Amino acid sequence: MYVDVCMYVLPSRTIHTGRGDYSPYIKPYINSLTALHQHCRLIMSMMGAARAAGILAAVVAALVLPPAVLGLDNGLALTPPMGWLAWERFRCNTDCVNDPKNCISENLFFEMADRLVADGYLAAGYEYINIDDCWSSRTRGDDGRLRADPERFPSGIKAIADYVHSKGLKLGIYGDYGNYTCAGYPGSLGHLQTDAQTFAEWNVDFVKFDGCYAHPKDMDKGYPEFGFHLNQTGRQMVYSCSWPVYQIFSGMTPDYASIAKHCNLWRNYDDIQDSWASVTTIIDYYGDNQDVLIPLAGPGHWNDPDMLIIGNFGLSYEQSKAQMALWVVMASPLLSSVDLRTIGPEYRAILQNRAAIAISQDPLGIQGKRIFKDKGIEIWARPITPVVGEYYSYAIVFFNRRVDGTPSQVSVTIHELGMLNAAGYRTEDVFAGQSYGVLYPADRLKVDVNPSGVVLVRCSAVPARAFGRPPQQQLQRGGRPFFTTTRPRFF
Ligand code: GLA
Repeated sequence: MYVDVCMYVLPSRTIHTGRGDYSPYIKPYINSLTALHQHCRLIMSMMGAARAAGILAAVVAALVLPPAVLGLDNGLALTPPMGWLAWERFRCNTDCVNDPKNCISENLFFEMADRLVADGYLAAGYEYINIDDCWSSRTRGDDGRLRADPERFPSGIKAIADYVHSKGLKLGIYGDYGNYTCAGYPGSLGHLQTDAQTFAEWNVDFVKFDGCYAHPKDMDKGYPEFGFHLNQTGRQMVYSCSWPVYQIFSGMTPDYASIAKHCNLWRNYDDIQDSWASVTTIIDYYGDNQDVLIPLAGPGHWNDPDMLIIGNFGLSYEQSKAQMALWVVMASPLLSSVDLRTIGPEYRAILQNRAAIAISQDPLGIQGKRIFKDKGIEIWARPITPVVGEYYSYAIVFFNRRVDGTPSQVSVTIHELGMLNAAGYRTEDVFAGQSYGVLYPADRLKVDVNPSGVVLVRCSAVPARAFGRPPQQQLQRGGRPFFTTTRPRFF
């Protein structure tokens, strides 16, 4: 099957990111300004209160407030967070009598922490180990505080934090804004300040805050409020919100400006399940809604399409590479949910692919875009570093959704992909580890994409001074003459 993919694109000079009228380069700076404004407003309002009360001490208190109280600008998650999260693979298995190896218990987290370090995940960037639902007792303690289930977590959460910190990892925990967690454990409604304080005292580094048993309308106030209490503890904790997904599913339009301001990451869509159908449904959601979602993402704040399920039961090898490629190009958090004790080496290699992770962690933090979709073939592109003059580099995913059992060839010129740097792009196939040398705008890239698979390439812009054509045999030339079927614009 030959699929000839052709398109016209905007000249690179007009590159824009859909982020309004400022470029991705100055966004972090704008964030800082926003934080300064917030700080200033906070101090001003407290000074006003102090004047009214005639208490100078309040002014002093305002001035000595730690920077961590400035709203979300907590300096965390400047690239998409990477780690391991229990939920998709281990769910709410609390039967430690019959299934001690797989139940939600401290042993599971101690073992996974060991594997993250010993098997190279931490070295590759997976630094968070995150507890999900079902860790707590069914009731709060007499002091009104959340407490870990004493049978399954006899050492307590702080001991797990100490352990993972001693190994160079960070600990995440799960809470819920509503009356109960999704699995029916105590929620934080009415206890926001106490629970934020408890997590901080346990030395937690990441909080996933779910939204079951809460009214979606209350979340516009409640999620920022919990974020405020997190920040007030003075401990830096990544704040993962489920705020938009509950609002979307209840028919509301989320206030994404507020969400991106108050959360480091947020779930937009349904829970991932262990199947290719689930993964593709999620990919479609992010592609179909990209004009809304892409502008929200950036250093410190990310759309979260949910966990990586690579190495579990539901995905083939090709599909696993596809999930990894799409997640890195969508600038998604990379939170793997898999049994690290039994994962196969080929799946571990996908998760630890350094070239893929480098794209994920690109400092520009621009979320990639679906730029072509026709006859079961998609092309996704993410602008990345290095930026040479006016030209971005790009990560490109060629994604074959077709199920006819032979690879589809996709043939496209570098120019058609939107890359116009006359000095060319050093191009490599990320999973094959193969170099295409330097390709120039007129050169044609031809890739064979396996059914329900991907080819992920990185095209690094070459500085003009290195200009010079490589030997002809490095170029992928020729192919069928193309005709234009669509004229997508991108970036
Ligand atoms: C919700 C979340 C999941 C998981 C479960 C736990 O469904 O979306 O990611 O945390 O709750 O009960």
